[in-house]
Amino acid sequence: MKTVAVMGASGTLGTSIVRMLLDRGVHVRALVRATTHRAKLEALGVTDFVVADLMDPISLQGALTQGPRIDAVISSAAGFTSHSRRTKDNDIRADIEGYRHWVDAAKIAQVPRFIFISILECDKAPNVPHFHKKRLTEQYLVEKQQPYLSLRAAAFLDRPRDVVAEKVKSGVFPDIAPGVAMDMIYSPDLARYAVEAALDLPDSAFNQCIDICCDIPATGPMLAAAFTRVLGRPIVAKPVFSSLLTPLMPLIAKIVPSLRDGVAVLFWIRKGGYVTHDRQTQEKWFGKLPTIEDSVTRYCQERKF
Ligand SMILES: NC(=O)c1ccc[n+]([C@@H]2O[C@H](COP(=O)([O-])OP(=O)(O)OC[C@H]3O[C@@H](n4cnc5c(N)ncnc54)[C@H](OP(=O)(O)O)[C@@H]3O)[C@@H](O)[C@H]2O)c1
Repeated sequence: MKTVAVMGASGTLGTSIVRMLLDRGVHVRALVRATTHRAKLEALGVTDFVVADLMDPISLQGALTQGPRIDAVISSAAGFTSHSRRTKDNDIRADIEGYRHWVDAAKIAQVPRFIFISILECDKAPNVPHFHKKRLTEQYLVEKQQPYLSLRAAAFLDRPRDVVAEKVKSGVFPDIAPGVAMDMIYSPDLARYAVEAALDLPDSAFNQCIDICCDIPATGPMLAAAFTRVLGRPIVAKPVFSSLLTPLMPLIAKIVPSLRDGVAVLFWIRKGGYVTHDRQTQEKWFGKLPTIEDSVTRYCQERKF
């Protein structure tokens, strides 16, 4: 039986990854913080919990050296996300310093596969802080010669707080970048790719970054049209931010530092930056890319719309 350690197991994506690993008969080691809510993971059947924090190198080394040999780690944790802010702190240091500790621990434990959940085009966005941090971790993996696969994901169709679901129920698709296409992925597809990377892909697939997205980039109206077809009732794309507010955002971000990252992402998307230049590599290793329509269909079915 293979053992896979999941860092960020309690998160939106992490929980899907854990569920799929268990479905494949894998022994899952869930790495959690002392304060992490474990109930969802326990309900899935996880029994092997190890307390490990990205900011505590000793805990990370212990998590990978005790018990059964670890065949792969899947790293979905992120310090900047709204989940992490809600659960306790927003320790953005975790995304640089913490990930360095984590790569060091994997290297010391000679983990054969380090699957890293990264972000699409992160190497081209030095001014978007949390994108750039992903790039720094990818570079650290190369520098340390830790065997890795970086899955650079597009925007999740199911965002962590599921704002899309709430809006769609009231007939609206929230459009954050009117007139601009961006790449999307339904996060269970990303979870499946991470699991396949841990268990099925040959070693020759490793030591590279793979963009992960649907078959085409989509605008708000394209997504609204897909929801309309799937649900059989009209869903209309509406801008999330008014055209008057948008130009003021950089100024507001200067005054409110906690908004800087979000505003930088928004402007990056509006510049058309959140679109892949390579769909072939994903297709080569994971098969045909999901379509927008199919992703929206599963999204609606799984939420029983
Ligand atoms: N949302 C998107 O559109 C998008 C797009 C591309 C890539 N991604 C990437 O996808 C990944 C998963 O996103 P998500 O939305 O599923 O994440 P999430 O729900 O916000 O979960 C974050 C996870 O990180 C853990 N964590 C935070 N700080 C930690 C620390 N210091 N030590 C150990 N664990 C820590 C949290 O644990 P606690 O439960 O203890 O807080 C939680 O399990 C992230 O890496 C994100 O960057 C997201």
